[in-house]
Amino acid sequence: IQTFLCPLDQRRGVPSPGEVILKHLEPFRLSLEKLKEVSTRLRKDMIRGLGKHTHHRAAVKMLPTFVRATPDGTEKGDFLALDLGGTNFRVLHVRVMEEEQKMVKMDSQLCAIPQEIMLGTGEQLFDHIAACLSEFLDSQNLKGQTLPMGFTFSFPCEQKEIDKSILIRWTKGFNCSGVEGEDVVKLLKEAIHRRGDYDISSVAMVNDTVGTMMSCGYRDQTCEIGMIIGTGTNACYMEEMKNVKRVEGEDGQMCINTEWGGFGDDGSLEDILTEFDKVVDRTSINPGVHTFEKMISGMYLGEIVRLVLMKLTEKKLLFKGEVSEALRTKETFETKFISMIEDGLENAKKILTELGLTWDLVDARVVRLVCETISSRSARLCAAALATIVDRIRANRGLPHLKTTVGVDGTVYKKHPKMQLSMHFLAPDCKIKFLVSEDGSGKGAAMVTAVAQRLALQSRLLEESDGEEDEEEKVRS
Ligand code: BGC
Repeated sequence: IQTFLCPLDQRRGVPSPGEVILKHLEPFRLSLEKLKEVSTRLRKDMIRGLGKHTHHRAAVKMLPTFVRATPDGTEKGDFLALDLGGTNFRVLHVRVMEEEQKMVKMDSQLCAIPQEIMLGTGEQLFDHIAACLSEFLDSQNLKGQTLPMGFTFSFPCEQKEIDKSILIRWTKGFNCSGVEGEDVVKLLKEAIHRRGDYDISSVAMVNDTVGTMMSCGYRDQTCEIGMIIGTGTNACYMEEMKNVKRVEGEDGQMCINTEWGGFGDDGSLEDILTEFDKVVDRTSINPGVHTFEKMISGMYLGEIVRLVLMKLTEKKLLFKGEVSEALRTKETFETKFISMIEDGLENAKKILTELGLTWDLVDARVVRLVCETISSRSARLCAAALATIVDRIRANRGLPHLKTTVGVDGTVYKKHPKMQLSMHFLAPDCKIKFLVSEDGSGKGAAMVTAVAQRLALQSRLLEESDGEEDEEEKVRS
């Protein structure tokens, strides 16, 4: 930066524009020490979220998912998967093939969710989903069959059982009325009954992080963490049952949906929030909710960059102090511009022109620096949070070192995989492999259903063999 921005004006002893720019970006630069502090706070919040008596006031919800095992490679069968999490809804027909350890997407259909539905009533949303599902079943000639179904619903839900899931709150731009506090499976079934042209049997509810972990887990059985850095952000991992205080039982493991997006909602991240983060939160449709997510995920990063560019322009440090109409308008700086600009100055010049700005080479470089700063902060914060989880798994098992795999999905991760670099410093005792999931949240829902079927079959066989042993015992006595 010193080479392309003017050096300190020694004569007058005033800082150069370059130094002033760096000063504005300083609050986004989190030192390793600060990240470790953030990680320690998250560790405490995770314990609070798991606790029976502390859960209700925990910002990090640590939701039990009732997924008790990852795939062992013997799963098989045909499944339907529904996937709702962003601006699209997808229906998939998935075949799991044991012999080849492969999950094959037989077919799928995408339905857009228009903004009026995202902000309309719950009934409208579920009618739209049921209509899309009906169309797909018709096109696949599947209406007569009742295939087991997995439903990836990527919002924080209090899961009562695998097929009962109460929406705690909407995130990521959704705000349909009458759904918070309700069972999503019930709302889906009601919408299907309103139509009356087809029916469904069992539904397994899955968060997208869980779907990602499970679909990666079929390829690599050491995968026990799922992470999403896309429109929103979140992670899940396999926790020891004895630590999941809100669910009966001490044996084995259960996947916990951390909902780490809510980290900081109780004010615990106040020291690292910048003035720009506060504006993003204040002007969002859910102020005060998902503080950590708003510093990291795709729904918000572009807007943070826009606000910083506005500020630098108003201070006459960019574009000769001239703000364009587009730059002044909320959400015009799309998150995808960040990686495009980081890829090369030519992209930066094109985007700035499209935004109606008059720029010179220094402006383009400063914009690239702003983009790098915001995306690096996102990556480093995610790394700190992931380090907390892997180190917890290591400590749970009393191991000096842990080797594990993280299944990961989301465009922000795919475009900015730099978080991997920080992991080495933040979780020095853990060796982590990242497995990028393809189609994970959809296929993973099918895999959750497949694993649940395998476990049910195994326990039936076990009961039968126990029964046989009892009979033998009776005969013997
Ligand atoms: C939701 C999570 C989800 C994440 C990634 C967040 O806004 O609360 O449930 O996993 O986005 O899609």
